[in-house]
Amino acid sequence: MPKNPKLSTRNAMAAAFSLAFAGLAATAVLSHPTMVSAAADPAPNTVAYYTDKVQPILKENCYRCHGGENHRGGLQIDTKAGLLKGGRDGAVLVPGSPEKSLLISLIRHEGPADDPMPMPPKGKLSDADIATVTAWVKAGAIMPE
Ligand code: HEC
Repeated sequence: MPKNPKLSTRNAMAAAFSLAFAGLAATAVLSHPTMVSAAADPAPNTVAYYTDKVQPILKENCYRCHGGENHRGGLQIDTKAGLLKGGRDGAVLVPGSPEKSLLISLIRHEGPADDPMPMPPKGKLSDADIATVTAWVKAGAIMPE
């Protein structure tokens, strides 16, 4: 038994509190990745911009319908060849011209209401993600083979 039970309770509470606080701080940093990576952001006209910033957005939101074996709308998004070939309605990317790129108008929900419908079909990408993909197309849609 500790000599002073009151003191050890207080220590335990202090420890629990600082653990909880460390957890909160870690969550804050993790949920704002830009806070930690802002200094090292690659430029939009680099392969690194595609692999670090654009591809994760496509992977999370598009690959399940446009990747691997899945070519909804005739479009495969996970390879350069597939992206440049386009889908059933033709080209989806015009490197350098986001305003002429079907892929961009669909993710901005500025395309047709139907056929092809806005992408992804349910929900909408965040404004930040849309800006990232748009900047990439504007800078020439650079990606690895
Ligand atoms: C749940 C499945 C699903 C997801 C997720 C999805 N798509 Fe689609 N996509 C479709 C279907 C189905 C079509 C054909 C729709 C049509 O013709 O109306 C299509 C069509 C398209 C087209 C037009 C192809 C053409 O030539 O008509 C583009 C561009 C496109 N998707 C981009 C994306 C992007 C970018 C994402 C991620 C942000 C995405 N899609 C996510 C199912 C999906």
